[in-house]
Amino acid sequence: MKWKRILKRSALVVVVLLFVWFQVAYWSSTNDCQRSIPPGGERMKAIKFCEYGPPDILKLEEVEKPVPKDNELLVRVRAASLNFIDAGLVRGPSVLRLMVGLRKPKFTGFGRDFAGVVEATGKDVTEFKPGDQIFGVKWGAIAEYVCVRKDRVALKPANITFEQAGAVGLAGLTALQGLQTGKIHAGEKVLINGASGGVGTFALQIAKAFDTEVTAVCSTRNVEIARTLGADHVIDYTKEDFTKREERYDLLFDNVNNHSFSERRLLLKPGGICVLAGIGSAGLHKGQLGRIAGNFTAAWRSRFVDQKFESYVTTSNQADLKFLSDLMAEGKVTPFVEKTYSLDQTADALRYFEEGHARGKLVIKISAVVTSTGELTPDEYVPATGLWETETMRSVGRPREVNH
Ligand SMILES: NC(=O)c1ccc[n+]([C@@H]2O[C@H](COP(=O)([O-])OP(=O)(O)OC[C@H]3O[C@@H](n4cnc5c(N)ncnc54)[C@H](OP(=O)(O)O)[C@@H]3O)[C@@H](O)[C@H]2O)c1
Repeated sequence: MKWKRILKRSALVVVVLLFVWFQVAYWSSTNDCQRSIPPGGERMKAIKFCEYGPPDILKLEEVEKPVPKDNELLVRVRAASLNFIDAGLVRGPSVLRLMVGLRKPKFTGFGRDFAGVVEATGKDVTEFKPGDQIFGVKWGAIAEYVCVRKDRVALKPANITFEQAGAVGLAGLTALQGLQTGKIHAGEKVLINGASGGVGTFALQIAKAFDTEVTAVCSTRNVEIARTLGADHVIDYTKEDFTKREERYDLLFDNVNNHSFSERRLLLKPGGICVLAGIGSAGLHKGQLGRIAGNFTAAWRSRFVDQKFESYVTTSNQADLKFLSDLMAEGKVTPFVEKTYSLDQTADALRYFEEGHARGKLVIKISAVVTSTGELTPDEYVPATGLWETETMRSVGRPREVNH
C-alpha cells in the first residue's frame, strides 16, 4: 500500500513538473523578429516568418546584411527554391515544434537551396573567390544575401542557369543520397514512386546516370515529363497500382510510402532494397503521421526478411554537391523547374507548393539587390525556365547553352 502511494505521488510530481516545464518553454519561446538593425548596419531584403501559420505568414522584410565568419562565403543569392521541409516549418506541426520552437519559430529565415555569386570570403577560405558562381544549401536562403560555410557549396557548371542551380541543394542531395543508400549500381532495375516532384525528378535522372533501367510512377499529367527526363517505363498511378505488377525490382526509391510493407516487399527481388525517402508531396496532408510510423515499422520488419527497407537523413556535404555539379556539367542531370517567382511572390509559391502537385522545383529568383550604391538592374538573368512543357522538355539531356 505504501509503495503504491509513493508511486502515485511520484507520477503526479512528474506530471506537474512536465506541465510547468512546458509552460515555461512555451511562453519563453521567442525569435529575432523584434531585433532592429543597428545604426550604420548594411541592409538587405529577406523572406521571414515570425509566427507559425499559412503561407501568408511569410513576409518580405528588411534585415541586417550578414557578415561572413572566417570559414564562410558571403553570397549574393540569384535564385533559391522550396523544399518539403520549408513548407513544414512554416506551418509548425506539433511534433516539429519540440525541435524548432514551441510557440514561435526559433529560426525565422525561409528556404534552403540557393545559387548565387560569391561577393566576399572569410579569411580561412582559399577554395573560392569573389565572382565565383556557386550553388549550395543554407537555412534562410530566400534572401538577397546569405553567409554559408565553404563546405556547403560547389561551383555551378556553366551550362546550368542560376535558376536551375538554385533548385538543386536539398532535393538533389536527397535523391543522390537515397539512391546511394539503396546501393544503386549499373544494370539494376529501379522503380521511383513519386517521380515528378522536387526529389523525384532528380532521382529519376540520377538513377539513369548510373545506367539503370528506370520505371517512374506519377500521375497522368506528368507521364510525358517522366519520359522526357529519361524514364524507360512510366506507370500512371491513377490507372494502375504498381505493386500488382509481376515485375521485380532491385531498388525501390519510395518518395510517397502509400503502400504496405508486404506489397512493397513482394515488388523487390531477393536482396532488393526499398529506400524510404519520403512521405509524399509537400504540405500537411491526411495520413502523413501514419506514413511516418509506417516507415519506422517497415525498417524494423525488414530486419527479418530478405529485402531491406532503409531510411536516411539527407546531409549537406560538398563531395555530393560536387558530384551533382559534375552530373549537370555532363548533361546527365538538368534540374526541372516548373515555375519561377519573384522574391515578393514567395507566399504564392508556397501556396502552390502546399497543394502537393508541383512538378519538379519551384524557384524564387532574386534578380536585383539594393546596395549602398543603389538598385542594381535585374541583370544577366536568362529568361525564366518556368515553362518546361515548351522549353526545358526539349533540352533535357542536352544542356542549354547559356552565357552568363
Ligand atoms: N530523407 C530525407 O532526408 C528527405 C529530405 C528531403 C525530402 N524528403 C522527402 O521527399 C519527399 C518528396 O519531397 P519533394 O520535395 O519531392 O515533394 P514534392 O515536390 O511536393 O512532390 C510532389 C510530387 O509528389 C507526387 N505525388 C503525390 N502523390 C503521389 C502518389 N500517390 N504517387 C506518386 N506520386 C505522388 C506528385 O505528383 P502528382 O502531381 O503526379 O501526384 C508531385 O509531383 C517528401 O515526402 C519528403 O519527406 C526526404
